Amino acid sequence: MIDIQHVSRFFKDKKNTIEAVKDVSFQIKKGDVVGLLGENGAGKTTLLRMISTILEPSAGTIHIEGINIHKDPMKIKAKIGVLFGSETGLYDRLTARENLAYFAKLYGMSQHETKTRIDYLAVRFGMKDYLDRRVGGFSKGMRQKVTIARTLIHNPEIILFDEPTTGLDITSANMFRELIHQLRKEGKTIIFSSHIMEEVKQLCQSIVMIHKGEMVYNGTIDELYKQEESEDLNYIFMSRIVRGAN
Ligand SMILES: Nc1ncnc2c1ncn2[C@@H]1O[C@H](COP(=O)(O)OP(=O)(O)O)[C@@H](O)[C@H]1O
Ligand SMILES: [Mg+2]
Repeated sequence: MIDIQHVSRFFKDKKNTIEAVKDVSFQIKKGDVVGLLGENGAGKTTLLRMISTILEPSAGTIHIEGINIHKDPMKIKAKIGVLFGSETGLYDRLTARENLAYFAKLYGMSQHETKTRIDYLAVRFGMKDYLDRRVGGFSKGMRQKVTIARTLIHNPEIILFDEPTTGLDITSANMFRELIHQLRKEGKTIIFSSHIMEEVKQLCQSIVMIHKGEMVYNGTIDELYKQEESEDLNYIFMSRIVRGAN
């Protein structure tokens, strides 16, 4: 279980304090797929960076299976895979295989384990033909597959995707939706951020809606429909934003 309690994150520059995430609390059960919904600047990336241990909260705590992830990040890092939409984090001068092996090493995987896992992922994502080519010459779609394989290299239980489909063409976006669907069937715990209501509806059991850093809804989509007496997620989203947290 992921237990997020009263988490806030502020950023300070010379004059201003930006409250990117304000007193957010929610829990996620093992095997749940949660959609993190919010407009640009709502605080989605900041929240996911905190859950991935990369960024410390200014206040509040995050526990995963009882472990405070910012006190003991090493215990938890191996359980989490993260993919931030805006960056691939691949080394152009290395081949796809070398890139994957590099990340496997960071997770302390043995050579044998690494080889088996890379072979498996290459088949799964249809990368066999270009596994030993340098990433520098890859198309966007090829890079995307290597990036996904990188996220999954250590077979994490918890997977965080930050706007995985933003800016992708329809085929790539659908590939991603299918992947989330598959990972869900495998029992992975997934949080993915999005501003596309339809994809959240298709893929998630529950949603967390944030607006200007505050959580405005957490629960199932069905419950939200009941509360709002509407099934128009776009409309509901806008009305929640207008009303704010309650
Ligand atoms: N490193 C940072 N320094 C200063 N401000 C930041 C930083 N990261 C995020 N912010 C601000 O925090 C707010 C939330 O950003 P972000 O989490 O990226 O939102 P989202 O991912 O929902 O678009 C924005 O106002 C953004 O400008
Ligand atoms: Mg973002």
